Amino acid sequence: MFISARTFEEYRAMFALSEHDLSLRILDCPGGAASFVAGAGARGTDAVAVDPQYGPGREALGPLALRENEHRHAEVVGRAEDFVWTWFGGPRRYTRLRSRSARDFTADIAARPGRYVLGSLPNLPFADRAFDLVLSSHLLFSYGEQMDEDFHRDALLELVRVSRGQVRLYPLFLHTSHKRYPALDRMREMLAGYGVPSRVERVDYAFDPGDEEMLVLECGGPRDLPGSSLRGRPSSVGFDPVRWRHLRPDR
Ligand SMILES: C[S@@+](CC[C@H](N)C(=O)[O-])C[C@H]1O[C@@H](n2cnc3c(N)ncnc32)[C@H](O)[C@@H]1O
Repeated sequence: MFISARTFEEYRAMFALSEHDLSLRILDCPGGAASFVAGAGARGTDAVAVDPQYGPGREALGPLALRENEHRHAEVVGRAEDFVWTWFGGPRRYTRLRSRSARDFTADIAARPGRYVLGSLPNLPFADRAFDLVLSSHLLFSYGEQMDEDFHRDALLELVRVSRGQVRLYPLFLHTSHKRYPALDRMREMLAGYGVPSRVERVDYAFDPGDEEMLVLECGGPRDLPGSSLRGRPSSVGFDPVRWRHLRPDR
C-alpha cells in the first residue's frame, strides 16, 4: 500500500486534537511513514504507531515515502485544481512539509523503535482499552473499494477494543471517487448495536475535495464486543492493493 508521510500538524487538524487530547495515551493506526508519533514524542505525548510495514526492512519506509513524495510533486502540480489548498497553501509547501515529515519519521523510528509496533487490523497486538485515544487516517473508508465491509466491521471493532476513550477516523470519503464511503451508516448502526455511539464532526482540514469530516466513536461506556470473524484468517500483511497506485496509468 502507498506509504504516506502526513505531518504531526496535519494530524492535529484532521483529528481536531486539543491540548487535552495530546496529554492522553494515543495510538496511531495505521502509522505509515507519518510523523505524528515523532511530533507527539517531541512534545512529551505518549504515542505509539502500529502498521504492517513496521517489520524487517522498516528502515527503508522513510526514504521510500520521501521518494514517493518527490515523485508525487509533479502530479500534484499538474493537477493542482483537483485539490484543496486552504490548509497547505500550495503544492510547494505541501511537498516541503511531507518531505520533512518523512525525514522526521525516519529519525524517530531509528531513535525510538519501540514506539513503532508491527501489527495489522483486524488483530492488533494490544490489550483491551490500552489507549485513551485511537487515531486512524487514510485506511478505513478511504480504501473502501479495496477492502470489503467485513474487513471494515472487524477493523472498527478492533480499534474500539483497544480504546478506552475515543476512536477518531478520517477521512470518510473514498480516495478513488471522492464520494462518502457507502456503508458508513451501516457501520455506525453496527457499532451503536454494540454500545458504541458515534458522530460525524467537521474539521478544519482537507486536501481532497469533501474530506472535511471525521468520525468520532465513543468507546468509554459499557460495551459487549463480538469476536472477529476474520480471526484465524491469514494476516493482511503483504496485501497491498494500492501500493504504487500513483505510478499506474489509471490513477
Ligand atoms: C495511506 S497510508 C496512511 C498512513 C498514515 N495514517 C497517514 O495518514 O499518513 C495507509 C497505511 O495503511 C497500512 N495498512 C495496510 N493494511 C493494513 C491493515 N490491515 N492494518 C493496519 N494498517 C494497514 C499500510 O501499511 C499503510 O502504511
